[in-house]
Amino acid sequence: MIRLKNTVKKYGIQRALDCSNLHIKVGEFVFLVGASGAGKSTLMRLMYREELPTRGQVFVGGVDVAKMHPSKVPHLRRRMGIVFQDFKLLCDHNVFDNVAFVIRALGMSSREIKKRVRGALKIVGLPDKADALPTQLSGGEQQRVGIARAIVNGPSLLIADEPTGNLDPQTSMEIMDILEQVNKRGTTVIVATHDQIIVDHFKKRVITLEQGRIIKDINAGTYG
Ligand SMILES: Nc1ncnc2c1ncn2[C@@H]1O[C@H](COP(=O)(O)OP(=O)(O)O)[C@@H](O)[C@H]1O
Ligand SMILES: [Mg+2]
Repeated sequence: MIRLKNTVKKYGIQRALDCSNLHIKVGEFVFLVGASGAGKSTLMRLMYREELPTRGQVFVGGVDVAKMHPSKVPHLRRRMGIVFQDFKLLCDHNVFDNVAFVIRALGMSSREIKKRVRGALKIVGLPDKADALPTQLSGGEQQRVGIARAIVNGPSLLIADEPTGNLDPQTSMEIMDILEQVNKRGTTVIVATHDQIIVDHFKKRVITLEQGRIIKDINAGTYG
């Protein structure tokens, strides 16, 4: 699903990422851990082609996104879902519209859109909140909407950058349970997190970054 080869990302002289080799297979669930500034977000931004590598390759689904023509990027993003720490919801649009936003652009019938949005809201446990505004929801509920939006188009890859960074421990665990469900339905899931309790609880593959380098990569690992 993902393969990086001799990939370097610099910001000016600052080397944010230096990854000689990384492979994430279809269907995996991976935690990306490491201190603030270790390069987690940089690695993810390379995967969804928000950034280009300074050198090296970034394969996503067999395609080197570093060489991808900019006009192809929307097509790449449609096959992935992205979840952010700060949710990034449209606050003047209700939950339904937030989740429908991306698939509306695809020329789907309104019946199909309704079906998909309802399905996504059901998976995240918010079947009755379609008409609510984000401001009427708790942080945990807003992140559920963020996940519904990310999965509504049935992506093969879901990337979540500190999805529980703004949430309390109980709510964080609920959000992670949903991401695990999404993975069990067949989506490859990559989660960047600082949360040791979560990483230790789920016992997934754990990739540890330090100053832009992968210093550890362990299956069924823990944070420490
Ligand atoms: N847009 C940017 N411009 C300059 N430096 C950046 C930028 N984004 C990240 N960096 C630097 O790259 C390094 C890695 O950052 P980041 O990937 O955000 O780490 P993390 O997500 O693990 O906290 C840090 O030193 C950070 O300051
Ligand atoms: Mg980050």
